[in-house]
Amino acid sequence: MNIQYLKNIILDKVNAIPTVPHIIRRLIPMLHDENTPLHEVEQIISMDIAISTRLLKVANSAYYGFMKQVTTVRQALSVLGMRQVKSLALGISVLESMKQLSGRQTLDYRDLWLHSIGCAMAATLLCDVCNIPVKDTAFTAAILHDMGKIPLNGLFPDDYAQVIVLRDQNRSLADAESEIFGIDHGDVAGWLCDLWKFPTLLTDPIRNHHKTLSLADSPSVMTGIVCLADYLSRAADIGCGGNNHDTAIPYPVCALLHLNPERLSELRNRLTTKKQQATSFVDATL
Ligand SMILES: [Fe+2]
Ligand SMILES: [Fe+2]
Repeated sequence: MNIQYLKNIILDKVNAIPTVPHIIRRLIPMLHDENTPLHEVEQIISMDIAISTRLLKVANSAYYGFMKQVTTVRQALSVLGMRQVKSLALGISVLESMKQLSGRQTLDYRDLWLHSIGCAMAATLLCDVCNIPVKDTAFTAAILHDMGKIPLNGLFPDDYAQVIVLRDQNRSLADAESEIFGIDHGDVAGWLCDLWKFPTLLTDPIRNHHKTLSLADSPSVMTGIVCLADYLSRAADIGCGGNNHDTAIPYPVCALLHLNPERLSELRNRLTTKKQQATSFVDATL
């Protein structure tokens, strides 16, 4: 399929979605601005009832485990912190946009979302273990890493059916997509990141999480985090991103992050214990 044609169709459809991309565009410049006034973030999030309701549901879910009810966006900002609320609101807004492009999905939407939350939890764990300070960016990048699957699958269901045939012959989904479409879901997500003017720190890992071995330069640390978090989420069996075979451990990425196989399997075990938390997060957002 012609890649430019594919890109035009996807971006036209995304541009036709009302409201939510407007929130995404307003949140992005604020993402790394520590001086954003609290009331501005509160105002943007409160503007959309679907986003603010979901945000409050997540804040009240077992994922965070607060004793007191969080009932307003302002309260969520004070208990979760501004950076976490901005990251969450962005993730939820993108998810809402993607839902409108989901069409005739072959992939299970809930499973995919659960896999993404597992990946976000793994990314947070990896940042802790590897002493990487930009935990919120890693969390957001991981939540959004597979968002390209939704328009690719939803807008081109017949072509995607061929991807599934190849996958069932023991190919990875990203490989199969590259064969059928000439690009993988990371590239599609990268187009959306460019459209919404996401910062490079967020765009790079989302676009390149399946290209860690083929990049001319070694992957950035953030790309490594998302690639390894993706592996860990599958290894801990949290949801399903559409792959149905075992994935090899990405050793070069482990080396990049100075993680040995023992440390990795310890992280996988820690993540496995968080499965219920991930499920409660997903239930709050769908
Ligand atoms: Fe992926
Ligand atoms: Fe994934």
